[in-house]
Amino acid sequence: MDVCGQIVYGSFGEILIRAKKDAKIEIGSLLVAGENPAYLLQVYDLEYGSQLEKTHLELTSGLQIENKEKLEFIEGEIQNYVIARAKAVLEVRKDGGRERVGVPKRLPEFFGTVQEVTPEFLSFLEKENEDGVFLGNLRSGSRILPIPVRIPLEESLTHHILITATTGRGKSNLLKVMLASILKTRKCGVLIIDPHDEYFGRSGKGLKDLEGADENLVYYTPHTGNLHARNVRRLLVNAGDIKPWDFGGVVALSDAQSQGMYVLYGKAGEEWLLTLFDEEPEALAGKLGTVQVDTVAALKRKLSFAMERFYGDESKTIFTIQSGLGVNTISEIVTMLTDGKKVVIDASSLSNEAELLLASALARRIFEEYKQRKKDGTLEQSPVVSIVLEEAPRVLRNEESIFSSIAREGRKFRIGLIGVTQLASLIPGEVLANINTKIILGTEMQLERKTLIESASQDISTDAKLIASLEKGEALVTSIFTKFAIPIYAPLFEAAFRQKEKKEKKLLIGY
Ligand SMILES: Nc1ncnc2c1ncn2[C@@H]1O[C@H](COP(=O)(O)OP(=O)(O)O)[C@@H](O)[C@H]1O
Ligand SMILES: [Mg+2]
Repeated sequence: MDVCGQIVYGSFGEILIRAKKDAKIEIGSLLVAGENPAYLLQVYDLEYGSQLEKTHLELTSGLQIENKEKLEFIEGEIQNYVIARAKAVLEVRKDGGRERVGVPKRLPEFFGTVQEVTPEFLSFLEKENEDGVFLGNLRSGSRILPIPVRIPLEESLTHHILITATTGRGKSNLLKVMLASILKTRKCGVLIIDPHDEYFGRSGKGLKDLEGADENLVYYTPHTGNLHARNVRRLLVNAGDIKPWDFGGVVALSDAQSQGMYVLYGKAGEEWLLTLFDEEPEALAGKLGTVQVDTVAALKRKLSFAMERFYGDESKTIFTIQSGLGVNTISEIVTMLTDGKKVVIDASSLSNEAELLLASALARRIFEEYKQRKKDGTLEQSPVVSIVLEEAPRVLRNEESIFSSIAREGRKFRIGLIGVTQLASLIPGEVLANINTKIILGTEMQLERKTLIESASQDISTDAKLIASLEKGEALVTSIFTKFAIPIYAPLFEAAFRQKEKKEKKLLIGY
């Protein structure tokens, strides 16, 4: 390892290192101090240091820029330098042949030299969670190391994951990389509600092009068109499979409308939506007795709108009232998920409400199924199920939403969420605290950074600048399943295909 600096002073969370000239120390660089124990340090700030007085420096500068004189410092590299501020993130102790890795409780040796981290030093990370979810490669500043970072499969999925960043920083790409790494295993089912139709790879490369896709991946789309692949199905759901409670947190109803809905369901059962859409409000209100005509009319209007049933047109909606059509879709999807398959739903042409209604109905059925399995004592053998949701605050802000319940108690039933958002600050604190892995990509907005820093599983209070400076694909992972907040780079999903074709092995890709 090359010496790149020396500890000169500081305190526990703020170790000051004088950087060697030409040392490539960046914000986020990982450095190693000491031998046994060795400390892994992470740089979080940089500043200039100089032996010269500020006024001397200003004078020298004046002479140079005003008189265009060519002046040089005597032994410039000794007099002027860079000071890096770092914190210790890991303590590695060699005990016989074994490495014990823990949270640092002491300071590294005073005036000790520091080196750039090497892959060998961090090789213990490579052995962790070998069949876990791959997130990317370990990163030291902008240097990518050939060490894969993974989190444990079942635990991390059921303890929920949040992926946050400003738009365009690589959230979807990271998710593709993660899904790719768990496509082959049947230990987890994943439901991916995909509002941009970007995961399956309808046109271009996607999950469908990976090994294991034929057996484990199914794609539901309203537009099957000329897609004849084995794992493509038409997205069509019979309205009879939608229950009044599926609208909770999806459509805002008044108390009277909500009560009217349950009265109707009580009378008509499975046929409640068919009845609502088919009959005139006057006639229906008459049959329901206690419900006002206006209430029935408003309910009809709101639910038709949410289900994209405009003027009774069946061709524009995925929710049909025709008997026999789309009757097995929901139960089919639930069966596949509980069998450890990955199901992508192309929601690109659905309205916000229709997408949420479908997502809620599916989430509720999975929840009900797993609650039942817990009672029957068969839950432990079942694959965990994870539900991917874009724009997660839409549902997580809402107490009534099934997703809020899953965030709070899904873990007990082996169900988890993977939320994607650019606005974590809109998620209630209690829900945020229940999400035990947060993958933070580049985030400029200060409020967002603050929220993420405050709700992180590690103390990342010094990392605001680092988070703001993350490039595409670069992320900081804070999780109860990692020993420190790990900086990673998630490779470009498509690059894996190019690398495979060229048989390159430059980056380690976990799939
Ligand atoms: N790890 C990466 N390396 C290089 N480019 C990336 C990486 N991740 C994403 N990109 C590029 O950035 C663009 C936006 O990425 P995307 O994942 O769609 O961002 P988001 O979902 O956060 O809006 C993509 O078109 C992709 O080409
Ligand atoms: Mg995206």
